[in-house]
Amino acid sequence: MSNVTFLSGENIPLEMHRVCMVQRVNLLPVEKRLHSMREAGFNTFLLKNRDVFLDMLTDSGVNAMSENQYAAMMQANDSYAGSETFYRLEAVLQDIFQMKYFLPAHQGRACENIISKTLVKPGMVALMNYHFTTTRAHITVMGGSVEEIIGDEGLNVQSDSQFKGDVDIDKLNEAISRLGKEKIAFMRIEAGTNLIGGQPVSMNNMREVSRICRANGVPLVYDASLLADNLYFIKMRDAEYKNVDIKEITREIASLMDIVYFSGRKLGSARGGGIITSNEKLFFKMRELIPLYEGFLTYGGMSVREMEALAVGMQETMDIDVISQTPIFVEAMCNELLAQGIPVVTPPGGLGCHVDAKQFCSHIPQTQYPAGALAAALFIAGGVRCMERGTLSEMRNDDGSDRLAEMELIRLAIPKRVFTLSQIKYTVDRLTWLYRNRNLIGGLEFVEEPNVLRFFFGRLQPIGNWPDLLVERFRKDFGESL
Ligand code: F0G
Repeated sequence: MSNVTFLSGENIPLEMHRVCMVQRVNLLPVEKRLHSMREAGFNTFLLKNRDVFLDMLTDSGVNAMSENQYAAMMQANDSYAGSETFYRLEAVLQDIFQMKYFLPAHQGRACENIISKTLVKPGMVALMNYHFTTTRAHITVMGGSVEEIIGDEGLNVQSDSQFKGDVDIDKLNEAISRLGKEKIAFMRIEAGTNLIGGQPVSMNNMREVSRICRANGVPLVYDASLLADNLYFIKMRDAEYKNVDIKEITREIASLMDIVYFSGRKLGSARGGGIITSNEKLFFKMRELIPLYEGFLTYGGMSVREMEALAVGMQETMDIDVISQTPIFVEAMCNELLAQGIPVVTPPGGLGCHVDAKQFCSHIPQTQYPAGALAAALFIAGGVRCMERGTLSEMRNDDGSDRLAEMELIRLAIPKRVFTLSQIKYTVDRLTWLYRNRNLIGGLEFVEEPNVLRFFFGRLQPIGNWPDLLVERFRKDFGESL
């Protein structure tokens, strides 16, 4: 954020933009919220947006776009092959990342499919600081497996460590000597590590990982979907980069990697995705798969309007006032929750505020999905939709038992430039009420469970009648209030 000091000494997340267009949202009465939650099988993914007041499910594809992005959409060149729009986007990405080749794809997981199909063979292992759900699914579908080598601090919910996404260098060295380069499909670093609370990776750590991977002939893949937050944190938390331009930081990161890919639904605040590399051999291999799975090489499944918005969004990502908006709101929200004694992931990361459901609902066993239950309870309490990031988001073990997640979190995503401070305060208020009544929250069980990525569309039911008791208490405490 630009440097603004308040007379009061308060640290207020000041918006460096003004709102030009708005969309109405509805807040249903608590009884109707419970009804919607039941209809959605106690899975926040299955709620209808018309029933949601504040949609904090994700930042994917829902960041607010700028006037310049909308303007650019009007100049799109719609042609199947050789579209001018593609060359504009390609030039922007080449300039920002200083890499030679760009392959378009319809979203982040499509890039993961292409990369996994190119580099993963049955029995191979992909090393990474931490998995993302879709990443791991694509690797396992190819017969590979994932090994996480994040530093120990990364899994500490409350920590002072400024770069909790860092790779444990000893574990990396150990894995390479144990597995040998032939068995390693690639090493992947995820910027702004999503599932541990949007935690950044330091430049020093990336440098070291890159040096080791290059010395051992292991391809280094960078998931840049959450790069914007990571750039902000490098600039704010690493004294060496305090005065370094965001674009320079981006270029230095890219220079360490063999492949960079991203979800354009996140990075660039549009929709779509892409893979960037300077490695000719890998480029030719991956290129063959684009027309097969995505579309012709000059659109890759994206609409040209989105490609124009992405090109402008990527340029705007190089602006600290744009990329600071989410992290400073996350910090404000975390601080207010902490002041109420509510356990959140610290230090505050990017992407959203992460509440520790393991502590919040310590009376609910992990096999009854405490984070899923808390997500459902928050919707009932306030019409706020968040995402479960815990055992529910895992796949089952081969013997059918639940794989217990290392962390049980709910993620309240704060998409860029979407919410106001009063909406954040409202959410904190409803979470505080829930915290004081946390013993009313009970567990969940599956009634319909898909085999793959079950959290997206599985259906659950409450164990006992706790949702009714919650509604009763709400009416008692809040009277006629929505
Ligand atoms: N990598 C990371 C780090 C992500 O956060 C996501 C998506 C993907 C890859 C896949 O990209 O959705 O465009 O296919 N994250 C969304 C989220 C779904 O809500 O965090 P995609």
